[in-house]
Amino acid sequence: MSKLSVNHLLGIRGMNRDDLELIFNTASEFKEVLNRPIRKVPSLRDLTVANLFFENSTRTRLSFELAQKRLSADVVNFSAASSSVKKGETLVDTVNNIIAMKVDMVVMRHPHPGATHFLAEKVNTTFINAGDGTHEHPTQALLDAFSIRERVGNDLEGKKIAIVGDIRHSRVALSNILALKLLGARVRVCGPATLIPKHMQSLGVEISHNFDETLVWADVVNMLRIQHERQGGAMSIPYFPSIREYTLNFGLTQERLQRLDKQLTILHPGPVNRGVEISSGIADSDHSLILDQVENGVATRMAVMYLLARR
Ligand code: CP
Repeated sequence: MSKLSVNHLLGIRGMNRDDLELIFNTASEFKEVLNRPIRKVPSLRDLTVANLFFENSTRTRLSFELAQKRLSADVVNFSAASSSVKKGETLVDTVNNIIAMKVDMVVMRHPHPGATHFLAEKVNTTFINAGDGTHEHPTQALLDAFSIRERVGNDLEGKKIAIVGDIRHSRVALSNILALKLLGARVRVCGPATLIPKHMQSLGVEISHNFDETLVWADVVNMLRIQHERQGGAMSIPYFPSIREYTLNFGLTQERLQRLDKQLTILHPGPVNRGVEISSGIADSDHSLILDQVENGVATRMAVMYLLARR
């Protein structure tokens, strides 16, 4: 197969295994390009992309922009803080005005779940979801799966992958679950009962509240951060008694890893709260894929934009 089955990248939901394999194979080719002395190809020379970020971002925003520049696309960046959205303009009007300037593709991050899906029905252009509230973050799941495959082998069939922490507020969790299940992995979510929503059962994942037992079970762990901004702020923690207690029960520490008789592969999508969900030593260790994930994000996003543009 040489074409994606979708016209937009709104989420992992709606994609199939062939789509994912095509993205991984294309990303591998672009990763090779990124390691050359001249890290640029003319693939999207005739394309103009707008990056619309209505929510903070370091990795995703820079990674998309670099990916666009490595593909020779023209790029415009839009930040909600300095836009006319603040003057009362609707989201559809804002995006339609941007499209009228001959923009071919829109990458959007928005705090509201479904915002990119809504626009894709109303506005005639190609959309990529760069994170919509607590819903999906598809390119994060793609780069995570790509990084896992690089470390443990391309066949994830039966591999045991645990996603640990604030599942309730995480768009990374849902996209990762959907992608890893498509690739045949066994997926377990682990965290306090208050941070694991009931609908997880319908996704065919295992559920655990016992972190140490989950570490014994897993081949790979993806550690998520506590999303204070979606829980009412760092000083208001209604989902568990204290940060200290959370770390005691669900923090990945050297002591926990030393009790295992195996090496785990460790991921974290960032931003990392060092000393809360993961200790500094582990985040910086050889078993951590954190910076590989960031590096692979550029190649993966190049692949997504290239394949969507070809449609
Ligand atoms: N992983 C991720 O989405 O990071 P940013 O919020 O910095 O983009």
